[in-house]
Amino acid sequence: MTTPPTPTNHQLRLRARPTALPGPEHFDTTEEPARPPEDGEALLETVYVSIDPAMRVWMNEDPGYVPPIEIGEIMRAGGLCRVLDSRIEGIAPGDLVATRPGWQSHPTLPADALQKIDPALGTVEDWVGPLGTTGLTAWFGIRDVGAIKSGETVLVSAASGAVGQMVGQIAKLEGCRVIGTAGTSEKCRILVDELGFDAAINYREAADLESAIAEHAPEGIDVFFDNVGGPLLDAALASLRMHGRAVICGRISQTAATELYGVQNLGLLIGKRARVEGFIVSDFADQFPEARATLSRHLREGAIKQHLHVVEGLDQAPSALAMLFEGGNTGKLVVRVSS
Ligand SMILES: NC(=O)c1ccc[n+]([C@@H]2O[C@H](COP(=O)([O-])OP(=O)(O)OC[C@H]3O[C@@H](n4cnc5c(N)ncnc54)[C@H](OP(=O)(O)O)[C@@H]3O)[C@@H](O)[C@H]2O)c1
Repeated sequence: MTTPPTPTNHQLRLRARPTALPGPEHFDTTEEPARPPEDGEALLETVYVSIDPAMRVWMNEDPGYVPPIEIGEIMRAGGLCRVLDSRIEGIAPGDLVATRPGWQSHPTLPADALQKIDPALGTVEDWVGPLGTTGLTAWFGIRDVGAIKSGETVLVSAASGAVGQMVGQIAKLEGCRVIGTAGTSEKCRILVDELGFDAAINYREAADLESAIAEHAPEGIDVFFDNVGGPLLDAALASLRMHGRAVICGRISQTAATELYGVQNLGLLIGKRARVEGFIVSDFADQFPEARATLSRHLREGAIKQHLHVVEGLDQAPSALAMLFEGGNTGKLVVRVSS
């Protein structure tokens, strides 16, 4: 039997920290022979890397609750990989694993960094979206933090994005009326015609955000699931009903901003007895298997759909990351590194 040739590991390393939008100028391309696995390791081929707004935050010198990516380090990223060679019991060539491969084509990683995925629950594409961090963020964010109840009205920002599209569909399954905001009329059409939202607001065209929300929710909203922050958060806080909840999932409008927007309407929470709460999806890690099983059933039954936005080739990853901040993606954004 002939030994297969050692693959070349293509990598993208952080060259400089951006002050605003990330781009190709912030990365260096390097390549080296893939490292054969030692005991307790596996050599992988990256299939998809996930492109997430948090990655821009990790590029900062002080990202907050996670360590920064150091200059010269391979860009950190989650993704799905195929096992090429393994010295881990229970993991064999051909298996698919969820991990953090980073922006590299052939990482060699230890067992504790790998989660073997169950193909019975869904396809590779399902695992990169609804069964991965995206779907779980939506599931726990809107159900546990938002504490939605049937009959309530929910507003979701960045609704045509990865998390937003899942939040809206989950809230519909729970019997809520759902309004989404998005940045183009085509995205708004997809929300209503394809994903079952009750209404959509193009926030770029709305002369007054509060009036645009009131048009679709004259009695106000019970829950705001926020991915965006900024003026949209102010408009949503003003639209909350008594005992309303605002779930702070993300604030992409502020992530790459050079000047931060100061929220003005927090005072309204007093009279409304309303609650604003942030969360991190990993807070719910012990409940992931159960949530995945339910999400998998909804996917199989067609009750939840995913728009997947695929960019081809690892070298396109920096431009793909910038797309998130320009509204260039519809649905979950991934880079396909190998087929
Ligand atoms: N808390 C957690 O544990 C957790 C976990 C995962 C993700 N998140 C957060 O969830 C949010 C969504 O992440 P995602 O992966 O689903 O990204 P995404 O929604 O797929 O992509 C980002 C979208 O945000 C919108 N956007 C960008 N800049 C904007 C601006 N200035 N104003 C309004 N909208 C803007 C764009 O759509 P438009 O065309 O609509 O502008 C863009 O497509 C992010 O803030 C992320 O950090 C949090």
